[in-house]
Amino acid sequence: MLFFQLFLTLLPLLVTSSFDEDLIIERRPHHVDWEDLFMEYNRYSAPNRAKQQVNVSIEIIGIRNDKILFEINQDWRDERLRFVGVARVPVPSHIQPWYPDTYIRNGWDVVMEQKSLELNYDGTFQLKQKYQVGLDSGDNNELTLVISSFNNYGTERIHYNLVGSKIDLPSFSHISSKQVLRKSDTIHFDDIHITIHPNSINTTIMASAETTSINNSTI
Ligand SMILES: *[C@@H]1O[C@H](CO)[C@@H](O)[C@H](O)[C@H]1NC(C)=O
Ligand SMILES: *[C@@H]1O[C@H](CO)[C@@H](O)[C@H](O)[C@H]1NC(C)=O
Ligand SMILES: *[C@@H]1O[C@H](CO)[C@@H](O)[C@H](O)[C@H]1NC(C)=O
Repeated sequence: MLFFQLFLTLLPLLVTSSFDEDLIIERRPHHVDWEDLFMEYNRYSAPNRAKQQVNVSIEIIGIRNDKILFEINQDWRDERLRFVGVARVPVPSHIQPWYPDTYIRNGWDVVMEQKSLELNYDGTFQLKQKYQVGLDSGDNNELTLVISSFNNYGTERIHYNLVGSKIDLPSFSHISSKQVLRKSDTIHFDDIHITIHPNSINTTIMASAETTSINNSTI
């Protein structure tokens, strides 16, 4: 009798250990129950209805004539969509969360070639897109991208913060940016102007001047 009870106590252990491998295989570590997560979710409302912060980072990939290729990341936090775990998961295409109605205000022939949307367990979304855009060049052949919200979808105001910018092209020196407030009727927009500066003629003159002085000093 005692032996039988001991056997019963040990039985689950024996079973567990022998089926361990199967259990591990069945586990889905990055699984998110989207139906549960989105229960009662209102996608017509931004996480913050007064002022929604969106972090933007941009990388210029190529420029030819007035066409520019770039990748843009937009990050925002939606506290309604926190989930347990430490995973970042791709958002399936049939899932429709709120997302910023960002566009390139001054772009001609705008083409979005690629897009991915991921959700972090803390409710942070990352939307990554690749664009091809035609731009009118400004003074000194600068190119300026105006990034804006179309209509502050789901909130009073979408506020963009440029948190990163990158360019690594031989004929362009750097990127500068500024926040520009715009009012249309009674609606406020917080645009960002991202300007790509070509290497100026002055840089060449300065470079040759430097060579001359080096030349002089070695004499
Ligand atoms: C946005 O950027 C700020 C400053 O770098 C950072 O503190 C914040 O966590 C970022 N927010 C998101 C949603 O990525
Ligand atoms: C070159 O430098 C001069 C003075 O330093 C400045 O006035 C001029 O605008 C510059 N030209 C360009 C193309 O940057
Ligand atoms: C610089 O060096 C070269 C070669 O040594 C010489 O021909 C030239 O005159 C020099 N230029 C100046 C400004 O000294």
